Amino acid sequence: MAVKKVTIVEMGLRDGLQNEKVVLSTQARLEILQKLLDIGARRIEIGAFVSPQWVPQMAGSAEVTKAALELQKSKKIPKGTEFSVLVPNEKGMLMAIESGIKEVAIFAAASESFSKKNINCTIEESFERFKPVMALAKKHKIKVRGYLSTCFGCPFEGKVSEAKVIQLAKRLHQIGCYEISIGDTIGVADPMQVERIFKKLKKVVPVKKLAAHFHDTRGTALANILEAYQLGVRVFDASVGGLGGCPYAPGAAGNVSTEDVAYMFHGMGVKTGLDIEKMVAMNPWLTEKIQHTLPTKVGKVGFLKPLGKI
Ligand code: HMG
Ligand code: MG
Repeated sequence: MAVKKVTIVEMGLRDGLQNEKVVLSTQARLEILQKLLDIGARRIEIGAFVSPQWVPQMAGSAEVTKAALELQKSKKIPKGTEFSVLVPNEKGMLMAIESGIKEVAIFAAASESFSKKNINCTIEESFERFKPVMALAKKHKIKVRGYLSTCFGCPFEGKVSEAKVIQLAKRLHQIGCYEISIGDTIGVADPMQVERIFKKLKKVVPVKKLAAHFHDTRGTALANILEAYQLGVRVFDASVGGLGGCPYAPGAAGNVSTEDVAYMFHGMGVKTGLDIEKMVAMNPWLTEKIQHTLPTKVGKVGFLKPLGKI
């Protein structure tokens, strides 16, 4: 029987930290990175080359990237580990090229108001900005992931057109994104909505190129992930401890916690490659760094010992 497995793309160092009050030093971010690697994370978004005026928490991403890539070169980390950074425009892409990283992520929104608030341009203008980014990516052989935000609801407009979500995901695929991460930026989705939208998405983008990105503001993220898994999605974004959120999405909580997602999948016999006990051990350390209790459930309590190690 084929091994059942999923990939968790670790968001803690980017989506997580970008919305925390504390601004962590490069050193602290690298300590988190090392712990994530020890835990088994193999796809990690390590920062964002966005404007530090807009997101001060992501300043210093160049130093974090430089150190992460040195670690990679030294072969001290497992082969196949992939780092990525978020880039909003050509300037960010040039910084990514300068750093030597081999994967970036671009981001568009499915609602106009969110696009304006988050990146100060319309959706159409954002796709104009992607043109030089994609051309540079091709020239420098850099993989590009694409995020589509507010796919299940917008903090400013409320309902978002499903047709628009499908059309924009298709467009991100057509311009060359190797994977499209479908975002519930503010954590409003429910499983039936997930079923409806992913069924439509699968008709325009191969399911193996789709990822799901749920924030857990209202406690529905795990149910939504299970729904997406049942529809064939195998890549999920999550953040250790459930850190963070989006600074331009008022009220949005952090990504679903990596520990909680791994626990659910391991219980179902689906491998993630992550060590939950190490994440539980990391929790007090991370709590101290972030200076507040983290929303993760499994990260705080771990396993029920009599059930054994999963
Ligand atoms: P702007 O102010 O319109 O930019 O911001 P501009 O082109 O007018 O330039 C203004 C200044 O910013 C200039 O500097 C530029 O050089 C500089 P000055 O001449 O004044 O000294 N600048 C930059 N600096 C560093 N890096 C850059 C860059 N670009 C211009 N890349 C901009 C437009 C896109 C830059 C800004 O709106 C921005 O950085 N936004 C990012 C917001 C953000 O990071 N949001 C969170 C990430 S998205 C998210 O969390 C959702 C996701 O998780 C999925 C989901 O949950 O749905 C991905
Ligand atoms: Mg997000």
